[in-house]
Amino acid sequence: MVYPVIWHNNSVSLIDQTRLPNEYTVVEIHRSEDMAQAIKTMIVRGAPAIGVAAAYGMYLGAREIETTDTREFWERLEKVAQLLRSTRPTAVNLFWAISRMMKTAYETPGTVEDIKQNLFQTAQAINAEDLQTCQAIGDHGLAVLPTTPEKMTILTHCNAGALATAGYGTALGVVRSAWREGRLERVFADETRPRLQGAKLTAWECVQENIPVTVITDNMAAHCMKQGLIHAVVVGADRIAANGDTANKIGTYSVAIAAKAHDIPFFVAAPLSTVDFELTDGSQIPIEERNPVEIYQVGNTILTPAGVDFYNPAFDVTPANLITAIITEHGAFTPDNLVKLQSSSVI
Ligand code: MRU
Repeated sequence: MVYPVIWHNNSVSLIDQTRLPNEYTVVEIHRSEDMAQAIKTMIVRGAPAIGVAAAYGMYLGAREIETTDTREFWERLEKVAQLLRSTRPTAVNLFWAISRMMKTAYETPGTVEDIKQNLFQTAQAINAEDLQTCQAIGDHGLAVLPTTPEKMTILTHCNAGALATAGYGTALGVVRSAWREGRLERVFADETRPRLQGAKLTAWECVQENIPVTVITDNMAAHCMKQGLIHAVVVGADRIAANGDTANKIGTYSVAIAAKAHDIPFFVAAPLSTVDFELTDGSQIPIEERNPVEIYQVGNTILTPAGVDFYNPAFDVTPANLITAIITEHGAFTPDNLVKLQSSSVI
């Protein structure tokens, strides 16, 4: 199993996901500014993983603040929080983790040193909890996956695996659990243009664990469904609105439409920290737009003629009515039942 974010030798070790699968390199992060840059440039990516990374980024920022005055410490920590919040707008886990760290800072009694110590412990807890959450998501997924055929194929989009979380993964967590139980024949991984997280990262993770994986280009998914090659779709999420509308990697929406057209169940696997109960529906989810170079350049090759325009949204929103169930660490829920969780004791 890979762990993309770990605390090691008084700093944070990140697997550099921009270099996989060709190079496995680890980047050591010592300062909050460097963590912000690593999130922005996608050295670390995937909603839960950037939440964990941001939590450590908050601690790295906190330990640099040299004051014994609690009020001044809070003010300067807010600046660290602002910097980390400005990195990527869509995944709510980032904002969730930073808020939890700020709350820790405000509510810890004692000296600035006590607060710093508690911030470190909270970052460690966020990391450990996410790993457990993913394992629970994986196992809850088993209850809702189709029971026929005995061994199924699962299509996934982007990378919602160990690399995108503290470990184990959300969508790939369900895949891992199905594989462990002998219920998986193979994974189909959409390559996921423009950054190719499916071809590069999901495929790499599966190869590490000998899970059979077939990479297809994004425009092949509907065809594969029609051919009867896909039994279920499982994807991750960057932000889920209270009504179940789900933002995930660009292209997820088309996969959901194709799944509906072929009567194939479409599951979203995500921790409850990905649900933003403040948003009533998906139209309120901010969608990151990235540099067009991601579209027009592959390696050193420019693909398009000069003079064309580009549009590069990094995420899209799948409407709740296309989602069979949302698999969380507390079980699987139909999108319309999600809101009931807010008033229940689980969160
Ligand atoms: O732009 P990325 O690579 O950070 O996008 C990642 C995704 O869209 C994932 O599917 C999502 O964050 C869920 S990760 C468990």
